[in-house]
Amino acid sequence: MDKNKLSDLAGRLQKGGKGAGIGAGLIAAAGAAVYGLYQSFYTVDGGHRAIMFNRIGGVQQSIYSEGLHFRLPWFQYPIIYDIRARPRKVTSPTGSKDLQMVNISLRVLARPNVSKLPELYRQLGTDYDDRVLPSLCNEVLKSVVAKFNASQLITQRQAVSLLMRKELTERAYDFHIILDDVAITDLAFSNVYTAAVESKQVAQQESQRAQFIVEKAKQERQQKIVQAEGEAASAKMIGEAVAANPGYLKLRKIRAAQNIARTMAMSKNRVYLNAGTLMLNVNDKDFDESLQILGQRKR
Ligand SMILES: *[C@@H]1O[C@H](CO)[C@@H](O)[C@H](O)[C@H]1NC(C)=O
Ligand SMILES: *[C@@H]1O[C@H](CO)[C@@H](O)[C@H](O)[C@H]1NC(C)=O
Ligand SMILES: *[C@@H]1O[C@H](CO)[C@@H](O)[C@H](O)[C@H]1NC(C)=O
Repeated sequence: MDKNKLSDLAGRLQKGGKGAGIGAGLIAAAGAAVYGLYQSFYTVDGGHRAIMFNRIGGVQQSIYSEGLHFRLPWFQYPIIYDIRARPRKVTSPTGSKDLQMVNISLRVLARPNVSKLPELYRQLGTDYDDRVLPSLCNEVLKSVVAKFNASQLITQRQAVSLLMRKELTERAYDFHIILDDVAITDLAFSNVYTAAVESKQVAQQESQRAQFIVEKAKQERQQKIVQAEGEAASAKMIGEAVAANPGYLKLRKIRAAQNIARTMAMSKNRVYLNAGTLMLNVNDKDFDESLQILGQRKR
């Protein structure tokens, strides 16, 4: 009885062990399948492109764009490139044509030529811009700056920038790198040269200022002469008019009387004056007498 029960239990245990083994195998197979499936797909993010390496043919020519792609696990693997433009700043001390030291900074925007990604990978790898751009920029900077003298670098900055862009773009083309923009961001001369340029400008401005002052004094003198001449001529003309015709003085007297009368009429205060003071004694004898005396004196 006891023996029977024991053998039954053993039999059941054996059966159960077999079932568990099958279950574990299934799980392992499913796990392997999921892993295999997971390894068979890869994603290319926005702004990126992929090229494929396979263990027999090496780097393939086809280029995979953004999205989900299939590959054979272990046998193939993707190489993913960021194809967006990346800025890079290069600073280099160089000598100008007239042997002035110039610190010049260049900012370039570089991206790979997508249709040439396989070649780019074979020649330079994924860190293409670190390998090529610093030496390229330095060389072009030096060769271009050496064509200009220091003052030209300042006055013809646009031309310098254009020339650099042209040469750099041409050189980078050989490496399948596209330069979207090349710009000079900084242009610094040695302190000695800067001081020399500044003192020259100050001297120039001072000489211009002195010239201006001289010119102004001349103008003022001319103005005074003209004014004095005018006054003399006017005095002479008045004198001649009085001598020729005493009526002229009478006219002036009447005008003055008119002005005085108007002022007094507008005033709020009351004023008493005799006609002589008011110069309105036109009918009196002494009004004409004074004029005649003046006229005789002139003659
Ligand atoms: C990329 O390379 C191809 C082949 O050399 C060339 O035809 C194309 O002009 C290049 N693209 C740019 C933007 O330079
Ligand atoms: C710079 O070069 C120009 C033309 O090559 C020349 O006329 C000018 O005198 C030069 N300036 C200096 C400061 O050497
Ligand atoms: C250029 O820059 C370097 C480092 O910033 C500095 O040591 C050097 O004096 C600079 N030269 C000129 C000419 O400005």
